[in-house]
Amino acid sequence: MESPRAEAELRTSQAGTLGTSSGFVYVAAVFAALGGLLFGYDTGVISGAVLFITKQFALSLFPTELVVAVVLLGAAVGALSGGRIADWLGRRLTLFITSLIFIAGAIVCALARSLPILVAGRLIVGLGIGLSSVVPVYISEISPANARGWQASLYQLAITIGILSAYLVDYAFAGSEGWRWMLGLAAIPGVLLGLGMIALPETPRWLLERGRADDARKVLRRIRGNADIEAEFQDIQNTLSVASERGRFSDLLLPAVRPALIIGVGLAVFQQVTGINTVIYYAPHIIQAAGISSASGAILATAGVGLVNVIMTVVSMMLIERVGRRPLLLTGIVGMIISLGVLGLAFQLSIRSTTLAWVAVITLMAYVASFAISLGPIFWLLIAEIYPLRIRGLASGTAATSNWASNLVVSLTFLSLVQVLGPSWTFWLYGVMAIAAWIFSYYLVPETKGRTLEEIEEHWRVLRHARTMGR
Ligand code: BGC
Repeated sequence: MESPRAEAELRTSQAGTLGTSSGFVYVAAVFAALGGLLFGYDTGVISGAVLFITKQFALSLFPTELVVAVVLLGAAVGALSGGRIADWLGRRLTLFITSLIFIAGAIVCALARSLPILVAGRLIVGLGIGLSSVVPVYISEISPANARGWQASLYQLAITIGILSAYLVDYAFAGSEGWRWMLGLAAIPGVLLGLGMIALPETPRWLLERGRADDARKVLRRIRGNADIEAEFQDIQNTLSVASERGRFSDLLLPAVRPALIIGVGLAVFQQVTGINTVIYYAPHIIQAAGISSASGAILATAGVGLVNVIMTVVSMMLIERVGRRPLLLTGIVGMIISLGVLGLAFQLSIRSTTLAWVAVITLMAYVASFAISLGPIFWLLIAEIYPLRIRGLASGTAATSNWASNLVVSLTFLSLVQVLGPSWTFWLYGVMAIAAWIFSYYLVPETKGRTLEEIEEHWRVLRHARTMGR
């Protein structure tokens, strides 16, 4: 193990590589983030559409659950293959293929005349959602170190905007029972993502990894404006020259990768088992169960939850470069623990009082707000920045797959848990998971604020322990 001095020297040698960005990087990041918009829209839209789909195809419970959950299955598969494809074909081409898949999925769903076709359409959409986890990797590889946190978090912001738009589109088409429109409209951002990826460049890091030094220099010049790009170019090259990974699955267990793998997969699981999607997918259900019986009250409160999610993600993006990843993560998870505790309590007492029902709704919002400043954006950001370049796609894809698999388990068990344990104990169970998430994050999650991707990679190779990073 190297001394802290060696680590300090390493950092000094790489000082000045934080880089600046041209306006072009913002455009690139925003276009890539459309992948997140589609993720949020396509996972959120089904809550409204499913009512009319069930009616049109006269579906019983199992086929209904299939239409909803098959997306998560597709996403798990898409995330796993997406990482590999992104290392093999490049980030840009992978995202272009993703856009085609989203467009195809939206069209198949909108035109489906039978249940199997609809399920196939939803599976295709799921694959697109899974593949979209390449977005944060794309953004973090083009952003300068001092803006990478908020720029890569654009993905999460787009997810939350996608969820909110889905709620609104569902509301707008509910009167006409227009489920085909609800599902089909996703083709529009799909087209924009595709056009963006035709116009945008590949990341300089992937190009250099493939030995395309001239192309990498060209892209660096384009995305860094007038700044001197040589230091950044050299850093990437030096890091690659000492990397021992070869892009295989077995590399995930190398000593310089394993700690980061544990962090990514751990956060992936904790992001889901603390219950976020029970709120995102079942908000009207929970709100009605809390005692607000009017449908319009439930819809309003649901839209409120979606809005809080968007606003607090922006707050997180504003803070992330200033306070760092760890403080935000740890504070947000404390907020989740407290709100899950209170939520469980409100369910114990709400049967008799409307006031308490509103307490439940406000607590629900506090819970979403706490998630939105912490586990929401920071999970996707960290899995795009803590892995070595040679296996970044594969490793972050593995974490994303764990995220989707956990999402599937939580979504499929939530209603049964409520039936068996009751809502209070179900939320308390998620609260216990949140306590475990806090302990895990406190001991294992590194501070990556202000460090270049190459410094992070070097850190694992030299010091190996997450807590010493950023100190
Ligand atoms: C999670 C999704 C969730 C969304 C809510 C994302 O970070 O991965 O599962 O629906 O946040 O905003």
